[in-house]
Amino acid sequence: MLHAVLIMIPDNDRSLPGRERMRRQREAAAKALDESARLSGLPILSWDRDAAGVPVFERGVCWSLSHKTSVAAGVVATTPVGIDVEVIEPRNPALWEYVASAQEQTLLTDGDWPTFFRLWTAKEAVLKANRVGLSKLDVCRLVAAPTPSCAALAFEQSPWSVTFLASERILTAVAHKGAEVAWHRA
Ligand SMILES: CC(C)(COP(=O)(O)OP(=O)(O)OC[C@H]1O[C@@H](n2cnc3c(N)ncnc32)[C@H](O)[C@@H]1OP(=O)(O)O)[C@@H](O)C(=O)NCCC(=O)NCCS
Repeated sequence: MLHAVLIMIPDNDRSLPGRERMRRQREAAAKALDESARLSGLPILSWDRDAAGVPVFERGVCWSLSHKTSVAAGVVATTPVGIDVEVIEPRNPALWEYVASAQEQTLLTDGDWPTFFRLWTAKEAVLKANRVGLSKLDVCRLVAAPTPSCAALAFEQSPWSVTFLASERILTAVAHKGAEVAWHRA
């Protein structure tokens, strides 16, 4: 069982300096990781990143975090895992072309923003689980039509499952190799 933890960040808005906003986001993400580790019976680590910003794994513990202005998310596991959180809101329509190949677009029954963000968060979560950035977006592919609760993807031929939680306008995706996901709000 994977324990994914979401933490809302009240009053973190554009009236604050960017550095302070980011400090709050990272602090909330670290708390989410602490709680996920506690729920999973795994050690609470220092959640360090390397010089490129990639999470450093220690003691056989894999982890992933994500943060936006109003929300942070974290998940800790003994196998590769990735998490992404986004606020569902209209974006530049040109992003569709960037995120979804022509073949993937044929799998998507809707062209609405919730559908777009399911694909976006699923790919981000799979890329993070593989500890790579957007330069590998092209080898991260949807393999079947996603549902509101899950999606199947492949990264360089290797299959990945993604589980979603949608709550109001916040969508969270966890990428894993076939686990159950329990969602928590701390
Ligand atoms: C680096 C990237 C993972 C950042 O994603 P993001 O959505 O901007 O930000 P998130 O808050 O969700 O994730 C940031 C966290 O990812 C982690 N991260 C960074 N590089 C990572 C990597 N190579 N592998 C795994 N995790 C990584 C870090 O912990 C980082 O947190 P920190 O900045 O506090 O150290 C990357 O995918 C990116 O630049 N995305 C930009 C958004 C975009 O264009 N998405 C296209 C849709 S598919």
